[in-house]
Amino acid sequence: MSVTLSIDHHIARIVIDRPEAFNAMNESILLQIKDAVDTIQKNEDIRVAIFMGGGTKSFVAGADISYMSSMTPLEGEKWAKLGQSVFSTISELRCPSIAAIQGYALGGGTELAIACDLRIASEKACFAQPEVKLGIIPGFGGTQRLTRLIGPGNAKQMILTGNQFSAQQALAMGLVNEVVPHDQLTERVDALALSLASGSPNGIRLAKEAIEHGLQSSLNEGLQLEAALFGLCFASPEQREGMTAFLEKRKPKL
Ligand code: HXC
Repeated sequence: MSVTLSIDHHIARIVIDRPEAFNAMNESILLQIKDAVDTIQKNEDIRVAIFMGGGTKSFVAGADISYMSSMTPLEGEKWAKLGQSVFSTISELRCPSIAAIQGYALGGGTELAIACDLRIASEKACFAQPEVKLGIIPGFGGTQRLTRLIGPGNAKQMILTGNQFSAQQALAMGLVNEVVPHDQLTERVDALALSLASGSPNGIRLAKEAIEHGLQSSLNEGLQLEAALFGLCFASPEQREGMTAFLEKRKPKL
């Protein structure tokens, strides 16, 4: 059971591969994800992070139910806080992240996907927050991030029913950005990653920061931050290169 990190041409790939349990996450898997994310955050050469599940059937089938089955209330809270902090490091990554979802994204699997910036799903992907069927609630950010992403009506439909939703239903709810034929998932995710990698790393980082902070503040505070970060762009060589290249009718070297 392992989480592997590979880096190629500015693109990091994190694969969660635990075939015997549909890539369900126990403490070891969560800590390995954290290590991989910390490594990515420290490496300024990385411009995009892709999260995927090993095998063909499952992205991540949630938190490990055997691992959680005998937890005390205190252990449950600690477990939720661990997952929340790991997933927050993903959403706070300087570079953009993509979840490539080829199969089941259940419970903590959906929560991992929504901690990423973008989600591309195979037509065979399937989403759920099935926690209420286990007598628990989402604990790795689902009640908060999902509600912000797809709105309270859709989030309540997913969380209160615990039902599974197809990739097309997820697309209609705004849970995923795109649905692609199963055999084209890798190709499409790689193309998106290359496109993101060609953008201004500084611009992308500041845009992410404005969006993430804005989600947690009032409109006016968000607008103030946007203006401040917009100003900050002009301290970066990437702004000069981007605009000069446009004026010189050439591709920018970002
Ligand atoms: C532990 C799991 C698992 C999980 C699958 N497995 N999901 N083990 N935790 N989340 C294991 C099964 O026990 C089984 O092991 C093997 O993977 C294959 O699963 P099957 O059920 O036999 O396969 P299949 O019939 O194809 O069904 C696949 C499945 C189903 C739809 C993914 O396994 C399923 O519903 N899993 C549970 C999904 C879930 O409820 N996730 C949310 C967890 S709560 P054996 O040894 O029997 O072969 C959560 C909370 C997060 O995520 C927040 C915490 C704070």
